[in-house]
Amino acid sequence: MRTLLALVLVFTTHFYSSLAATASEWRNHSIYQLMTDRFARPDGSLTAPCDPNERVFCGGTWKGIISRLDYISRMGFTAIWVSPIVEQSDGRTGVGEAYHGYWTRNLYAFNLKFGTERDFIDLVGAAHERGMLVMLDVVLNHFANPGETIQYQNLIPFNHERYYHPKREIDWGSQPSIENGWMGNGYLWLPDLNTEDKEVADILVAWTKNVVSKYKIDGLRLDATRNIPMSFWKRICGEVGVYCQGEVWASDVNIVCPYQDSMDGLHNYPFKVAATEAFTSPNGNLSAFVQVAQHMRSQCKDVSLFGTFMENHDNPRLGSITTDPGRLRTLAVLNILSDGIPIVYYGQEQMLTGANDPLNREALWHTHYSTANNLVPTFTRLNAFRRLLISAASPTPFTYAVSTYHLLGTQVLNIRKGDVSLVLTNLGVATDIVVPMFAAGEELLEVLSCRLLRADSMGQIKLTLTGEPLVIYPRTRIADSETTICGA
Ligand SMILES: *[C@@H]1O[C@H](CO)[C@@H](O)[C@H](O)[C@H]1NC(C)=O
Ligand SMILES: *[C@@H]1O[C@H](CO)[C@@H](O)[C@H](O)[C@H]1NC(C)=O
Repeated sequence: MRTLLALVLVFTTHFYSSLAATASEWRNHSIYQLMTDRFARPDGSLTAPCDPNERVFCGGTWKGIISRLDYISRMGFTAIWVSPIVEQSDGRTGVGEAYHGYWTRNLYAFNLKFGTERDFIDLVGAAHERGMLVMLDVVLNHFANPGETIQYQNLIPFNHERYYHPKREIDWGSQPSIENGWMGNGYLWLPDLNTEDKEVADILVAWTKNVVSKYKIDGLRLDATRNIPMSFWKRICGEVGVYCQGEVWASDVNIVCPYQDSMDGLHNYPFKVAATEAFTSPNGNLSAFVQVAQHMRSQCKDVSLFGTFMENHDNPRLGSITTDPGRLRTLAVLNILSDGIPIVYYGQEQMLTGANDPLNREALWHTHYSTANNLVPTFTRLNAFRRLLISAASPTPFTYAVSTYHLLGTQVLNIRKGDVSLVLTNLGVATDIVVPMFAAGEELLEVLSCRLLRADSMGQIKLTLTGEPLVIYPRTRIADSETTICGA
């Protein structure tokens, strides 16, 4: 049986070529993370019910995504991150259904709720046609088993107890226990694969390489990175030949950074947590945020390969913390123009308000994919501006330029990255400020409002800052692109 499988793998790998994207190519991209079940339905319905609280499949599919790819690309995103694609544990458990895709039952079959193999191939093709990359979420740490009794014979290909660590709950204070223990509970256990076993690791590596080459995947998002030893990641990311971004769900810089020795990049959790704390309320501490950003820079191998995100499927949406558009736009600016690869979670552009999982997994069709009175124009503008910065001639390319941080008082922060000057506040009300460090008399463009500004003879701009962020750039550098960025 196993020999037959191996032959199939070799055969398929041989007959498809990959358009795999390397880490340095990913720096140029901006990622839209979506949950396949919740992004778009193939029937185009805008009213099909979906109560995230019920934790059941709502009908989003790969065909649905194809039909709404233009919505994503028109906002300037050049990559999509999609939910895991494999067959899931069946039926309703005490913790709902596997609509998110993180409960693998069979590695060698597609999740038919999301569509057929053909549909998935079509989705990747449709993305590539638009010049968009596809990042696939993969779960290599565990399988899933509904109920208390583990039915190993149902799990494919790891159909025996010997492939797993002994069943033991995780003690989250202990790294060995995080790696060897099981997540889950009596409603649903997540049997933890023994990736230290050579046979298990070989199968997972072969599976991943095959999926990447057969389906032309451009990058991987590695679920539950902290639950598998770094040596495994080093091997698989070394062999797979595409950009790998791992999930280490921790705000501690010293926990997250070391993982970059085993893969290209990680979700920038420390930055996300610090930015949210600093900018969602007037009580946020901007010095503490700056300290975290600088600590990341000094401790991690290369922050420019991290994923910069402000929302995801595991954390409360920003809209559940603040409804102030100025604050949400401030975090959108940090999301797109910081050091790292931007990742925006579907629905963030719609200012959705779901709090913790499962409430943060709303059906996007209920928003009617509206492009006004939300953050769609903001993200569109910011993505266009980032693309312009990437293609602008500059001694240091924008994606490699290091942000520097300058507090203009306790509640206003000036961030400089290359020629870009950001002014961000958590005050929420108007305040008079002086922004320094321009050339004397220089003409500048505020990119979000397309307002013109001029520095005085001291190279300073004096203005009244509202709760809105400022994105300031030399007007001469924007030249012919001003119309593209600002509209006719
Ligand atoms: C803000 O953070 C800085 C740096 O961590 C710290 O030194 C300072 O005490 C904090 N300020 C307040 C008011 O908590
Ligand atoms: C990133 O984009 C710029 C501008 O288009 C280009 O010059 C550069 O080669 C790209 N980098 C990679 C690694 O593709």
